[in-house]
Amino acid sequence: MLTGRHLIEPMDFTNDELNEIFDLADEMIKNPQEYAHICDGKLLATLFFEPSTRTRLSFEAAILRLGGRVIGFSEPSSSSAAKGESIADTIRTIGCYADIAVMRHPKEGAPKLASTYSNIPLINAGDGGHHHPTQTLTDLLTIRSIKKRLSNLTIGLCGDLKFGRTVHSLIKAMSRYENNRFILISPSELSIPEYIRKEVLEKNNISFIEVEKIEDAVKEVDILYMTRVQRERFFNEEDYVRLKDSYILNAEKMFRAKSDMIVMHPLPRVNEISYEIDKDPRACYFKQAKFGMFVRMSLMAKLLGVIK
Ligand code: CP
Repeated sequence: MLTGRHLIEPMDFTNDELNEIFDLADEMIKNPQEYAHICDGKLLATLFFEPSTRTRLSFEAAILRLGGRVIGFSEPSSSSAAKGESIADTIRTIGCYADIAVMRHPKEGAPKLASTYSNIPLINAGDGGHHHPTQTLTDLLTIRSIKKRLSNLTIGLCGDLKFGRTVHSLIKAMSRYENNRFILISPSELSIPEYIRKEVLEKNNISFIEVEKIEDAVKEVDILYMTRVQRERFFNEEDYVRLKDSYILNAEKMFRAKSDMIVMHPLPRVNEISYEIDKDPRACYFKQAKFGMFVRMSLMAKLLGVIK
């Protein structure tokens, strides 16, 4: 039962619960009009302490497309956080006004802490370099819809695997499906955190290799998941400048890839996918952004209990 639950980490839901969300999202894609009023009278609060385009606006679009309404702030300076209000008091106050809330915060663990004080469902929209569970739902729905399966896949993850929270969440989620294999492509300074390598991959006997060159992986992968170097998480600008263009996916590299390989990216992109790739049918990142809205529609309908 998903009604009334929080979503803080991708593993908060079982695979069966995820399937429920994806099945409903599929229905919403097919028949959007049938769902246009299921959230009439419901109010979403968007609490964004960090910038966002896709996550905030897709949540807003999602609740509006279900007939609900939205309140919120898009930067901490326009909330009472700027006056020193605690996360606990903010979420308790929001619970007096809204039926469901979504929070992005630069501090890892902030949405989890908030959830312990929240009397309404709270969704983590990204906490520091930690997790971004609704991006994971987006990614899984995209893969399920386009590749028609979530198992038996070779997944290349490329770029900033150290700070990229979407990558950490996706590895955890895809490790729960059978026979998936990972090729982790990054400079050594931006390789996946030790806890993902040890606690998720090695502990569960998941097949993975780490390489530095995209050319070493592109022929083999079913999915190439590109990520940007996360400038906002670097301690000094010099390191960012040195590493920011480590990978640029271009037509020459795509030529080596399988004809049914798909390119994904949580977006925003900076320089890591050349614009010439956008017209390649294997480029799926804008489709992915659209799946993100539908999966958030489905998720909110389930957490609000308007669809059981
Ligand atoms: N993918 C994603 O989280 O994008 P935004 O930062 O624009 O929300």
